[in-house]
Amino acid sequence: MIRLVRGFRDILPKDMTIWREIERTAKKHFETFGFFEIRPPVVEQSELFSRSIGDMTDIVEKEMFSFPGSKGKMLSLRPEATASVVRAYIQHHLYAQDPVQKLYTIGPMFRRERPQQGRFRQFYQINAEWFGSASPFTDAQLIVMAWSFFEKLSVSGLALHLNSLGCPACRPAFRDALFAAISKKKDELCEDCKRRLEKNPLRVLDCKVPGCRRAMETAPLMTDFLCDDCKAHFSGLTAALDKMSIPYEIDPRLVRGLDYYTRTAFEIQTDALGAQNAVAGGGRYDGLVKSLGGPEIPAVGFAIGVDRLVEVITAGREIPEPEPELFVAAIGETVLQQAFAWACGLSMAGVITEADFSGRRLKAQLRRAGKLGAKYVLIVGEDEIAAKQALLRNMKTKNQVQVPIDTLVESVAGILRHEKQGAI
Ligand code: HAM
Repeated sequence: MIRLVRGFRDILPKDMTIWREIERTAKKHFETFGFFEIRPPVVEQSELFSRSIGDMTDIVEKEMFSFPGSKGKMLSLRPEATASVVRAYIQHHLYAQDPVQKLYTIGPMFRRERPQQGRFRQFYQINAEWFGSASPFTDAQLIVMAWSFFEKLSVSGLALHLNSLGCPACRPAFRDALFAAISKKKDELCEDCKRRLEKNPLRVLDCKVPGCRRAMETAPLMTDFLCDDCKAHFSGLTAALDKMSIPYEIDPRLVRGLDYYTRTAFEIQTDALGAQNAVAGGGRYDGLVKSLGGPEIPAVGFAIGVDRLVEVITAGREIPEPEPELFVAAIGETVLQQAFAWACGLSMAGVITEADFSGRRLKAQLRRAGKLGAKYVLIVGEDEIAAKQALLRNMKTKNQVQVPIDTLVESVAGILRHEKQGAI
């Protein structure tokens, strides 16, 4: 038997109820905040990711699924969506109509990480990217949108971690100070961090290896190096979050695993998962549009990890599968064609309909209707056809009514619609 590739998984129908609920809620919620959907492809030129996420990041260094394209250029399955959305924004000149574009996208991402709980090689993100505004209210409104999305789904136990990573004016001084401080402790660092130190000392701040964490306890903090503009931006953001009563924790060690961030960086973490506790992460990336060949346009965004969110929401609890409203039980070969037409007609009329075309005995069909959880059963046999009346049975109350077969689809759909409104 051919099995799944390690790190990949199937999302089975019994789990799809909650996935669909999350996606439906996200679309509605984001659209009420003025966002429009965009769907970039899952394959891009590898260079897009190395130039945006950064050459020295774990994602680009060791986690991309890459392969040569037809003209020898390397291609990659996207490890995240921000770079693709920025590419599309530039390539289609979306900024020319209006630099302010609020875009969201939902889909799979691919990272060759070591599989573990909450960490998959194909995982799903809901991304929101807001182009064209440098105001801290933009960052705040995005966070409000993410936070209230989790509230809508009744997710509790969340904490918002917030930091400012500065800008090209103030970050170099911080980088130098960090480099000097870490260099003194180089021997205590893991092999990865020793290598990272030269090119990107900020990465060391983020390392989860206990030795590196200890070595970094006394390291300088970005918050102490922010220029006046970055300070004002950060205090504008925290004031706006205070205004909306969104609780946050300032976390000066939060650097995130992608290099494009400027100023705001944030994560929403849960207490319900193990080590992989971030259910959303994002931040501002004011230099990215320009560095990928577009005009100088600021932007900010975030992504929610759907796989982790599903784990938090379900946490061992079974979410019931949707049940059919109606089961068409056709008794005897002669009525099958008529029952088939009614089952099609009722589905087309918007009634969630199941049918059994086996011609089996009524008892066996009722058992199947019960197993599926059907609320009503439409019973048709030769006698019903002769009397021009089918039977519609409420499976819970066992009440049944006769329905004229000449207008069966409209009659049944009408009764069920009234039932939904509580009329019966
Ligand atoms: P990220 O922090 O790399 O940010 O990913 C965002 C979220 O995706 C994480 O918080 C997590 O929930 C989920 N995630 C990441 N890797 C995995 C994995 N291997 N398995 C399961 N879930 C995972 C970004 O991707 C940025 N593009 C976010 C952003 C948008 N920044 C600005 N705009």
